[in-house]
Amino acid sequence: MEQGQWRQARRLVREARRVVALTGAGISAESGVPTFRDAGGLWKSHRPEELATPEALARDPRTVLEWYAWRRSALAGCRPNEGHRALARFFLRRGEAGLVTQNVDGLHTRAALEEAGEDPAEAALPLELHGAVGRDRCESCEARWPAEPLGETLPRCSACGGLRRPDVVLFGETLDPDLLDRARRLAERADLCLVVGTSAVVYPAAALPLATRGAGGHIVEVNVQRTALTEVATLALLGEAGTVLPALLD
Ligand code: APR
Repeated sequence: MEQGQWRQARRLVREARRVVALTGAGISAESGVPTFRDAGGLWKSHRPEELATPEALARDPRTVLEWYAWRRSALAGCRPNEGHRALARFFLRRGEAGLVTQNVDGLHTRAALEEAGEDPAEAALPLELHGAVGRDRCESCEARWPAEPLGETLPRCSACGGLRRPDVVLFGETLDPDLLDRARRLAERADLCLVVGTSAVVYPAAALPLATRGAGGHIVEVNVQRTALTEVATLALLGEAGTVLPALLD
């Protein structure tokens, strides 16, 4: 990476009054979590329309629940990496929340709790726009619980009998309006948006960096390759998040 680019990136971080960070599957790649659209990504070997849509859930709930049970088991051995940790330390130091993620793997939350130790972790806890695979919710009454292993029969809500499903946003479903509104306000008020490990093709998340830019702020992108956002970024730092973020933020 060019020295000049690097110095400029560090200066933008140092001088920023308010920072928002948007992360995607790429930040968890070094923790062993597969991304979606890269070579070897989940959507290269699986058809999202058969596994991650409300239509698929209505048509064949067992296959969809088994898919998420598999993703949960694959996540069980994964731990936050230096990219997650550097972001957690950064927001804990600033004492102001600003982390927004598309990831449902819960690794940002674990990094926040581990880095905070005894201290409050709020500032480093992410807004999980697409939900969390470690949580279930009732398809009917929206009750929520920690996820449980999938049994022989389809899991049902003890209150209303509705289907217990992963608390994630499936393709075609709307995001939690309150969460989205909070993420938008963070992006509009920020003078720097760090965009890490996302192909920036899924909306409304991909619109958040544009909101920062639209309000006169800067976008600094961290990715191993160019994305749909690189053209409009102030700076694009090519490299792995687990290496670039500690060097950029610590
Ligand atoms: N460090 C930084 N970036 C990385 C790394 C890494 N170690 N490894 C991969 N990347 C980048 C890839 O180059 C790619 O641009 O991460 C990005 C991953 O993109 P996607 O697989 O498209 O994942 P994401 O952008 O998070 O997908 C958005 O789509 O499938 C839905 O709901 C799902 O939240 C997801 C959304």
